[in-house]
Amino acid sequence: MTGTKKLYIKTYGCQMNVYDSERMAEAMGGQGYEEVSSPEEADMILLNTCHIREKAAEKVYSELGRYKGLKAEKPDLTIGVAGCVAQAEGAEIMRRQPMVDLVVGPQSYHKLPQLEARAREGHKALDTDFPEEDKFDHLKRRPKARRGPTAFLTVQEGCDKFCAFCVVPYTRGAEVSRPAARIMDEARDLVERGVREITLLGQNVNAYHGHDGGLAGLIRELATIDGLARIRFTTSHPNDMDDALIAAHGEVDKLMPYLHLPVQAGSDRILKRMNRQHTAEQYIRLIERLRDARPDLHLSGDFIVGFPEETEADFQATLDLIEAVRYGSAFSFKYSERPGTPAAERPQVDEAAKDDRLQRLQALLTRQQRELQDAMVGREVEVLFEKPGRLPGQMVGKSEYLHAVHVHDERIAPGDLARVRIDHSGPNSLRGVEAVLQKPQ
Ligand code: 5AD
Ligand code: SF4
Repeated sequence: MTGTKKLYIKTYGCQMNVYDSERMAEAMGGQGYEEVSSPEEADMILLNTCHIREKAAEKVYSELGRYKGLKAEKPDLTIGVAGCVAQAEGAEIMRRQPMVDLVVGPQSYHKLPQLEARAREGHKALDTDFPEEDKFDHLKRRPKARRGPTAFLTVQEGCDKFCAFCVVPYTRGAEVSRPAARIMDEARDLVERGVREITLLGQNVNAYHGHDGGLAGLIRELATIDGLARIRFTTSHPNDMDDALIAAHGEVDKLMPYLHLPVQAGSDRILKRMNRQHTAEQYIRLIERLRDARPDLHLSGDFIVGFPEETEADFQATLDLIEAVRYGSAFSFKYSERPGTPAAERPQVDEAAKDDRLQRLQALLTRQQRELQDAMVGREVEVLFEKPGRLPGQMVGKSEYLHAVHVHDERIAPGDLARVRIDHSGPNSLRGVEAVLQKPQ
């Protein structure tokens, strides 16, 4: 096989898709493909898609529309759709866009090389099964390839929670955890390749049960790897935040003081209709326990406004919850009807009310985010440097709290950890001075 074929992957949606795209690119590397950064150069285009909201799903079709000319010029071009739109819509994608040669669901990525070979022979290829085996075992990686300082590692997939708005339990399937031994091997391999920070990924990552001690047990074991300096995990459900995981936040130095813990809404009536299985009060108590364990913990959340039947009073309860928690960062969305989910059938909130609420919610979240970021000025933070900044001699990295930090210091290289005093807070990042480099741990 010659190394001349070119693969262009476009990734939409969550961090798990970013991880999956890396693994697919590595697997196709074994088939003689190298990754390129523009669709014009490619022999194969793969869209790794997201189905979480309507807009995300529609982007796929508009992107495919843009490839019509390319396919006409280059009939051998293989066009594939992967990810959650592939899972949700399957063969419908090929009916709507006949130039698509290949459709592969998130649980079938290990079949990608065979599907690509079928497509090259001129057949349409589709696989949206939920097989028993661990696809990552079958997706071969290139162990020696050098990596940047941060990496994602999927430990858990799928979700059994069935929140009334969410397609994940349908597109990613039931909750499945990867065995701890495989995760440890993969983590060691990443560290040997230069990674210093690993973010464990799962749609419901704190429900992880592939280790006797659950996610907390896995984190403690990962913390024993020399050279691995930082551990994070995302995304969690409040009800799976067990005592062991709360304790780990206070006891494991390598576990960063930042937690993405979505609540979605602050009204008990709406939380119940969302099938979240907890109240606003229970969530706030949980945050208190986490802060008792780790006082400097920064919280991040997801919020949905305009969920069916949400009133102004319900929305006010969400604002009150946000005031009570004080978030370091947050993501907020207008409710989007997803076919096949229970909430899609219910009376909808009108678009103007959704827009108005989103604006007010985001104004509050931005203010909080800014306050917590500004409070870093004068403090010393630990920064893991990732890449050069835009200005000469500048390096950019992330603090423990995931703030971007810029420092001018010629001595610093990607992968370095340093203690940095913050002297300025800008719109999206902090500036530091007097970096004191730390030795690798
Ligand atoms: N509409 C709007 N936002 C949604 N999310 C999930 N489903 C929907 C939907 N139908 C949001 C939730 C979730 C995040 C990943 O996306 O806030 O936590
Ligand atoms: Fe979706 Fe998260 Fe709810 Fe699971 S817990 S159904 S992934 S929002």
